[in-house]
Amino acid sequence: MEKGQLLYEGKAKRLYATDEQDILWVEYKDSATAFNGEKKEEIAGKGTLNNKITSLLFERLQEAGIASHFVKQLSDHEQLVRQVAIIPVEVVTRNVVAGSMAKRLGLEEGTVLKRPIVEFYYKDDALGDPIITEDHIEIMELALPEEVTQLRENALKVNEVLIGFFKEVGVDLVDFKIEFGRDGNGQILLADEISPDTCRLWDTETKQKLDKDVFRRNLGNLTEAYELILAKLGGQHS
Ligand code: C5P
Repeated sequence: MEKGQLLYEGKAKRLYATDEQDILWVEYKDSATAFNGEKKEEIAGKGTLNNKITSLLFERLQEAGIASHFVKQLSDHEQLVRQVAIIPVEVVTRNVVAGSMAKRLGLEEGTVLKRPIVEFYYKDDALGDPIITEDHIEIMELALPEEVTQLRENALKVNEVLIGFFKEVGVDLVDFKIEFGRDGNGQILLADEISPDTCRLWDTETKQKLDKDVFRRNLGNLTEAYELILAKLGGQHS
């Protein structure tokens, strides 16, 4: 397979065309950004870690029957994915209060929720990705009502499966963000990435943060935390 022209460059990834129709070549970058791009740093090895962790998690999610864009890991920092039209809605699932939920609602970080909750955010950098409701999604024609139901159900299923993986290795899945896209047939597929950049992961025993909060809050060495997650999941870092 040949890598074609650059189609898109985001904060953490570059997407290239390939010589195969509907298959894209993804390159993970070493950039770390937070607060809508206000805090930015190059962290050597971060792209490799996220590519490996995402590949591992998407493989295991596919084994659990969750349809996604993931095709295969190509190299340390590259993977192949199916092309989808991304639905501009970030789907956040929470098991424990943290981050913007703690801040917005004045709730204590670390409070375990009675059941998982799902939130939707409008994916728009200029607006700072505002929280939206299912009515907004429908009125703004971002997705059909039955698709919104599917996003919510898929998010809860991904949550259930991911909680299981992480529990086995002594990690609490606090919350995470996922994105979905439509393929050429209009089928909704899980897309983008699932990594410590997009999840909150706490050591079950010590509650040590092993995710991007290490960077957001200057809590220490980000690559050490991500390496620990990769190792716990059974992956290897070169
Ligand atoms: O900041 P907040 O508490 O809303 O984030 C919830 C979860 O979604 C966190 O795991 C965070 O890393 C993830 N997230 C993300 N990309 C965003 C916003 C949140 O990956 N643009």
